[in-house]
Amino acid sequence: MPDLLSLFPAGSALDSDGMLVVDGCSADVLADEFGTPVLVVSERALRNRAREYVEELTARSAGSRVVFASKAFPCTAVQRVMVEEGLGLDVAGGGEILTALKAGVDPRLVVLHGNAKSDEEISLAVEHGLGLVVVDNSDDVDRLEATVPAGAVQDVLVRIIPGVTADTHSHVLTGHEGSKFGLAPRDAAPLIARIERSPTLAMQGLHVHVGSQILDVEPFAESVAPIAGLGEFPVYDLGGGLGARYTWADEPPTIAAYLDALVGAAHEHLPAEAQIIIEPGRSMVAASACTIYRVTTVKRGLVTFVAVDGGMGDNLEVALFDQRFEAGIAGRFDRPDSEMATVVGRHCESGDVLIDGLPLSAPAVGDLLAVPATGAYCYTMANNYNGNRRIPVVFARDGAARPVVRRETWDDLMARDVD
Ligand SMILES: Cc1ncc(COP(=O)(O)O)c(C=O)c1O
Repeated sequence: MPDLLSLFPAGSALDSDGMLVVDGCSADVLADEFGTPVLVVSERALRNRAREYVEELTARSAGSRVVFASKAFPCTAVQRVMVEEGLGLDVAGGGEILTALKAGVDPRLVVLHGNAKSDEEISLAVEHGLGLVVVDNSDDVDRLEATVPAGAVQDVLVRIIPGVTADTHSHVLTGHEGSKFGLAPRDAAPLIARIERSPTLAMQGLHVHVGSQILDVEPFAESVAPIAGLGEFPVYDLGGGLGARYTWADEPPTIAAYLDALVGAAHEHLPAEAQIIIEPGRSMVAASACTIYRVTTVKRGLVTFVAVDGGMGDNLEVALFDQRFEAGIAGRFDRPDSEMATVVGRHCESGDVLIDGLPLSAPAVGDLLAVPATGAYCYTMANNYNGNRRIPVVFARDGAARPVVRRETWDDLMARDVD
């Protein structure tokens, strides 16, 4: 079997009993202390990835900057790590603005997105002095002009559809012609002219984002030329989208290879002195975390079903876009006595399959199942299906573990049910 450990956060190991250890913390100890399922983040792996992004970008384009796409893991602790490592934050909703501010971000380093921003979100952005609002449509401009006080100025970018169809699942494509995000170049031109005439808005530049989980560099490079004809601006935000490694078959480009292509295209097509912003989400956080489940049922028949105490309540990536994950029984990664199993969740959907077919070492009730690469969008899309209590997030660092998001309680669930 390929090296399962290599999919876990960098620095993960097996102890002398074969138990998985993440950033110095044993999976069985974490499960005992915090219960299961639990989302475990290696703080060291997270910080190292953030540093790598900043170093690689600034080495190619001094003065350019990395903003973390908060939507990939929108909790204060993760945003705070990014802030401490010198990154800005991309936010796409009121709650992400509030956790970003709680994380201590300099509001001037925040970029607000959204294809359907509410009045409330625009007000929050203006009130807190967020650095850049990315205008998606003319209604955004109406709302901003109605909100920014006379005498003040809000910096904006305009989101452009580059017309690039990347090789990824259609549900996570955003830069293709006909996308709901942004404006085609011909439609953007009059809006840019309107912003340039606005007394309260300052036209700082353009934004593109081609999609997510993209495993080759060409679409990123291709997204730059289509925006070059719209004028010369001081800022170009070239989005996120670099793919993460979920299975041993995945070979995502390195950050260096990705930025060689992207910044190379920027140098070719955009003004030499322009500031480049990038917004990595998935590739920043996916590999820094894993989820530990408890096996609740093993049903052997036509198929061996291994059912765990979580599922689509804590990982919607499979249902949303068929993402493949790998897994192993914590404590028995290296044993050869495997049987093919299908790992399913506890939710009332046949689609609640976490992993469709993988070898597991003699799975049994009570085992811990460890699934790597769950750092991106799993926390984000956690839900209460079947009265599920959303799972905790635990930071592991050098053998010490601390909860940064606690498990939801029955009282939390009942608190909103007011009738
Ligand atoms: C505008 C924008 N920027 C950045 C991202 C982050 O993308 P990813 O998590 O694939 O890096 C997204 C997510 O799709 C996005 O919509």
